[in-house]
Amino acid sequence: MKKEEMDLLFQETFDHNDYRLFFAPGRINLIGEHTDYNGGHVFPCAITYGTYALVSKRKDNAIRLYSENFPEEGLIEFDLTNLHYDTKHSWANYAKGMINYLKQAGYKIENGLDILIHGNIPNGAGLSSSASIELVIGIALEKLFNLDIERIEIVKIGQQVENNFIGINSGIMDQFAIGMGKKDFGMLLNCQTLACEYAPIQLHQHHIVIMNTNKRRTLADSKYNERKSECEEALEVLKKVTNISFLGELTEGMFENVKNYLPNEIIQRRVQHVVSENSRTLKALRALKANDLHEFGQLMDASHCSLRDDYEVTGKELDTLVETAWNQKGVIGARMTGAGFGGCAIAIVEKEQVEQFIDKVGAIYKEKIGYEATFYVASIGDGARELTEEEDK
Ligand code: GLA
Repeated sequence: MKKEEMDLLFQETFDHNDYRLFFAPGRINLIGEHTDYNGGHVFPCAITYGTYALVSKRKDNAIRLYSENFPEEGLIEFDLTNLHYDTKHSWANYAKGMINYLKQAGYKIENGLDILIHGNIPNGAGLSSSASIELVIGIALEKLFNLDIERIEIVKIGQQVENNFIGINSGIMDQFAIGMGKKDFGMLLNCQTLACEYAPIQLHQHHIVIMNTNKRRTLADSKYNERKSECEEALEVLKKVTNISFLGELTEGMFENVKNYLPNEIIQRRVQHVVSENSRTLKALRALKANDLHEFGQLMDASHCSLRDDYEVTGKELDTLVETAWNQKGVIGARMTGAGFGGCAIAIVEKEQVEQFIDKVGAIYKEKIGYEATFYVASIGDGARELTEEEDK
């Protein structure tokens, strides 16, 4: 959106246009799925699609928010002195949670705010539009109130909002990728220690194509929490027979020796996924460093199979996209990305084949599923930040 359009929109909504502009990206995860809350490794990157927040401080305690993405919700208003979760505040609860938790952590936020949001990440598509709102609000508060806060603190507070305010027991990956992303780099993150290695993503003649199933993710949250509980159940058992403190510590060799202690075949498969995915993620970094895109692609494919067969979080829409993608010309690898149960998949596709790829996968998807998928070519961008006049918006 152009500066003039933003000025106009802010003016129309709040009767003035004295705002500062902030941006937080969305993210894709290249590999390492459902490993973050198990203390394993993930390999995400921030993308150039994201959430813009136009924010200004008020003199009173009112917080007023409007999102271009949810015009039907209208102007949402609450008070700095009453920051409890409220269903009727819909998407604005993510912002409210951030303000609430930053205050609780002792940061001084003593004025109300006018906030206008507009985002170009498809909502609820598994590209972390919610973490993107959390982070854009977090850095807006940091800058407007001159908070002396480390970026990693904002990232952790974002995760707490998701877990304790919203009620999704997600890991740290999304907020980390969005808060710490770097243009053209992926991040190999150890979710237990938060040690992070930035790795340049050099795809040469290839693009990353995001494929959105456009499936409504109605059961996604409860299924997500169910997987997390299954992992916790497994960990309790395995702690008694090994010296691990989280599933991410379990190697493939160790798993073979202890898997029979697990209560049933389903729980065994869940752990099998976590263990194999964690190992694939480390191998993927090595493959990328060795410039072996072919190996990287194979690891992506294997990751999808494991999420489909062992962790069971894909479903027919994601499987149709990914399996169709595998059969197309110029495809290095493809897998679902994010939590699953709908949402998006990614494919690494030769630049020259992208157009044909989209046509073919799109047509087959429509025929099998009955509605359209949407495709985007992803660029890897920087993490959350204030946008200045010079920066290209
Ligand atoms: C969601 C969660 C992340 C992570 C992924 C699965 O995106 O928010 O923390 O668990 O699912 O890898």
